[in-house]
Amino acid sequence: MALRFNSAYLKDFMAEHEIGALAPAVAAAHDALHNKTGLGNDFLGWVELPTNYDKEEFQRIKEAAARIQKQADVLIVIGIGGSYLGARAVIELLKSQMYNNLKKDTPDIYFAGNNVSPSYLQEILSICEGRDVAVNVISKSGTTTEPALAFRVFKKWLEDKYGEAAKERIYCTTDRAKGTLKELADRMGYETFVVPDDVGGRYSVLTAVGLLPIAAAGCDLDALMAGAKEAQEALANPCLAENDAYRYAATRFALYQKGKAMELLVSFDPCFVTMAEWYKQLFGESEGKDDKGLFPNAVTFSTDLHSLGQFIQDGSKILFETFMDIKKPKKDLYLEPDAQNFDGLNFLAGQDMSKVNATVMDATILAHTEGGVPCAVLEMPEISEHEVGYMIYFFEKACAISGYLLGVNPFDQPGVESYKKNMFALLGKPGYEDRQAALKAKLSK
Ligand code: PA5
Repeated sequence: MALRFNSAYLKDFMAEHEIGALAPAVAAAHDALHNKTGLGNDFLGWVELPTNYDKEEFQRIKEAAARIQKQADVLIVIGIGGSYLGARAVIELLKSQMYNNLKKDTPDIYFAGNNVSPSYLQEILSICEGRDVAVNVISKSGTTTEPALAFRVFKKWLEDKYGEAAKERIYCTTDRAKGTLKELADRMGYETFVVPDDVGGRYSVLTAVGLLPIAAAGCDLDALMAGAKEAQEALANPCLAENDAYRYAATRFALYQKGKAMELLVSFDPCFVTMAEWYKQLFGESEGKDDKGLFPNAVTFSTDLHSLGQFIQDGSKILFETFMDIKKPKKDLYLEPDAQNFDGLNFLAGQDMSKVNATVMDATILAHTEGGVPCAVLEMPEISEHEVGYMIYFFEKACAISGYLLGVNPFDQPGVESYKKNMFALLGKPGYEDRQAALKAKLSK
């Protein structure tokens, strides 16, 4: 059994025929994607990636991961956006959100270059003191400011500590042929891995971008790719009624047309938090353009039932929820009865804690549905490499179809450039002088 879309709780909010009516649009989106005739068709390498990937590089990734495991107590993964979220999401989901605190024979992993906070960087540097370190710097363009800045700092740190041998500890994932990082790597003799030309950052987790850190954390790459391959095959079915990724995409679109401008991805385990960040980037950057798009957001329950739960239940009716119903937790905990029943909780005893968590989900879906919030469900059998590989591909396929239904290019991100231009101008980057003067006049400090 693989990831399944369950729309049973949506009956009060939309009729089946409303989804059926989208079948021609979904078929057109499917054709545009598979025949490479749609917007952004030069970024469709991810569609066949689970079967059509560089097998020689895949082997090299495994070997590099084994080397990192031997040479480093700490692996620093430097990248931003699509160049780090997927790896972090998969590691936290498969291992733990407390991965670094686990007893393990794989290195601790810290993610740098995804912000410009000096405190954050100093804290990671102090964690590295006295420990053996390797760095995987990931940037498709090779010029993104945040990772470039962090890499500059870690490159010096490694060179100060290891001298010439620092180059044995630096792994670069970047463009096949061009860019500052590629040029530096070739000059310095760093091992390099490729971000394929036709795979955009947010669709790149199943390339070396995600795979090297994921392998270094001890996850099974073969099983991850096998799960993605199963999804690639299952979700190539053009029939809306039979393709759950397409049913999910069509349902999101139908709800958007009814004024639900926000999707909340709901999980019941903190190990899903960064996967939800990956989902937010995937959908937000793919759909949010041309004044259109659902705002992707996420909550972890029951944690957030004690904060945002109030708004969801009773507040503005601007959103719908998609519940991640993960049938089997990675670990369970049997709840023993207490002889004194001092806390009155014996009614919960005599069962696994996962049953209580599942009941929290049922109770929440019923309450929110009653409160007028449409609730969709994605049923996932378990958290394993295979199922996570399947889920990643499922979301990527649903996102692409969803973007085409909206009429946007799901594979570009023109809006990301605006802040960069202002940042470069205000920081005094050569070539931005005119813009700098105009911006400084507008600043209120
Ligand atoms: O999805 C995307 O394309 C972006 O999030 C990029 O991954 C991000 O901006 C980092 O870019 P780069 O890998 O070129 O440093």
